[in-house]
Parts: sequence; structure tokens; C-alpha cells
Amino acid sequence: MYKNIIIKLIFTFSLLNMPAAYSNEANKQVRQNQNKGTVLITGANRGLGLALSKHFIADGYHVIGTARKPQRAAELKNTGAQVEQLDVVDDDSIAALAQSLKGVPIDILVNNAGYIASLDRGLESFKNTSRKDFLYTYNVNVIGPVMVTRALLPNLLLAKSDVKKVVNISSHGGIVDRPNVPGIYSYDPTKTALNKITVDLSKDLKAYQIAVIALAPGHNKTRMGGESGKLQPDFSMGKAHKVITGLSLEDTGSFVGYSGFSIKW
Ligand SMILES: NC(=O)c1ccc[n+]([C@@H]2O[C@H](COP(=O)([O-])OP(=O)(O)OC[C@H]3O[C@@H](n4cnc5c(N)ncnc54)[C@H](OP(=O)(O)O)[C@@H]3O)[C@@H](O)[C@H]2O)c1
Repeated sequence: MYKNIIIKLIFTFSLLNMPAAYSNEANKQVRQNQNKGTVLITGANRGLGLALSKHFIADGYHVIGTARKPQRAAELKNTGAQVEQLDVVDDDSIAALAQSLKGVPIDILVNNAGYIASLDRGLESFKNTSRKDFLYTYNVNVIGPVMVTRALLPNLLLAKSDVKKVVNISSHGGIVDRPNVPGIYSYDPTKTALNKITVDLSKDLKAYQIAVIALAPGHNKTRMGGESGKLQPDFSMGKAHKVITGLSLEDTGSFVGYSGFSIKW
């Protein structure tokens, strides 16, 4: 028993006398091991964004999850994510986010927040679509990711990862040539536009070692995907997490499914 106490005393004493530089280095190493990098996911309070946040946190990443109403994002908060306010159609909200994250490196940005107008009325068709639906959906699904990516570019440039990543959550609905699949008028073209923007961004950001891809998550059981969704968000986002962490600069400008399969535009 005395032997154990003496060993503990020697150990404590040696820690107290450890050179400051060594102990700081050791702490830094521990932090680095616990933190593989920082991922910012928009629209992370529910659905696919929430599921993806959980996978990144389990893998040792620091997740910054955004919500339009952080006070209602209890489930996201409980994951251990840092919760920030963001409405992607509001330039003041985007600027406030960039300001509050000034100097914070971001390794991966996932533009996940998305909107579909048709849920209450069944699938939106040629007959019942409206100008209002077109404009708002384009604002959220296309302009939102562009403005958010531009506002957070300084954060991506600060990250130490060899390859930084921007992932635009797209959809099979964005594929132009889909025989026999009815179009969702105000939604599908927003994902086609997001795909085109993904390619443009991939060219503009390659010089900064930033890979940009579009990822289609498949039809999931979420508020957007509805009960008919074939996939559980935990399953598809588990696969997507692996695809995202495995991305290299060679993948930039591509359109892939949740498990990494290539999709034609
Ligand atoms: N589920 C599917 O089957 C499916 C299939 C293909 C593609 N996708 C795409 O996957 C992404 C996530 O979809 P989901 O199924 O998880 O949808 P969801 O359950 O409806 O969640 C959408 C998320 O986006 C947020 N959002 C909506 N408008 C926003 C805005 N103006 N600013 C910031 N956040 C906003 C929502 O926040 P609030 O809670 O505040 O509304 C919510 O967090 C979307 O881009 C969607 O187009 C989904």
C-alpha cells in the first residue's frame, strides 16, 4: 500500500515539474487527437443535417451546426455540437455568422439547408406550381449555398487540412434526363443549378486546395423526404460521412450519391 502511495507521489511530482512547453505540447496533442477538424453543417437541427452532425461528432470532429431558431435546436445541442444561428436567405444572418466565427478554421463546409414547397399539396406539378415557390426555393437552395460559402471562405482558408472541402447537398431531382420521373417544378431545377454552381466553385476554389462536390443523399425519411423515404438518415449519412472524409482534390467538381457512386448530371 505504501509502495502505491510513493509511486503516486513521484508521478504527481514529476507532472508538476514537467517543462511548460512539454505539457502544452502534450495537451495540444490530446486536443488534436480528439478533434480531427471542424465541420460546419447548415440546417443541422433536424433531418439529414442532424444525422450527419452525429456521425462527425462520433468520429471526433468539432461540429458547428446551424439552425434558423437555435432556441428550438435542443436535439442538435445535445449532440455536443456548437449551435449557431443561420438563415441562408438572410444576408444579415450570414454576415453575423461569419463575424462570430471570425478566425475559426473550418475544414469542411456542408451546405445542407434546403427547402421544398410541395409537401402540403402533394408533389408539385406543372399545374399547381407558383412564382412564389420558384423564387423562395431558388433563394434557399441555390443562392444560400453560394453566399454561405463566400462568407466562410476565410475560415476554410485558415484550416490546416491538406484538402478543405465544400459539400453541396444536391438531389437526384437535379438530374436533367430522368425518363418517367415526374418533375417537382420549383425544387428540381434548384438542384440542377446547385450542381452547375458546384462545378463553377470547384474551378474557382481548386487553387486554395478546396474540393467542392455535389452529393445526393437518396430518398430519406425526413420532413422533406416524407414517410415514403426509402432510407433512414442515420444510414445514408453514415455512408456520406465516409465519402466526405475520404474526398481528395481529384474528386473536385463531381456529383456523387450518399455512398460515393458517381451520378450523371
Ligand atoms: N430527404 C430527402 O429525401 C432528400 C432527398 C434529396 C435531397 N435532399 C436534400 O437534403 C437536404 C436536407 O434535407 P432534409 O431531408 O433533412 O430536409 P428537412 O428535414 O426538411 O430539413 C431541412 C433543414 O434545412 C433548414 N432550412 C430550411 N430553410 C432554411 C433557411 N432559409 N435557412 C437555413 N436553414 C434552412 C431547416 O431548418 P428549419 O427547421 O428551421 O426549417 C432544416 O434544418 C436538403 O438540401 C434537401 O434538398 C433531401
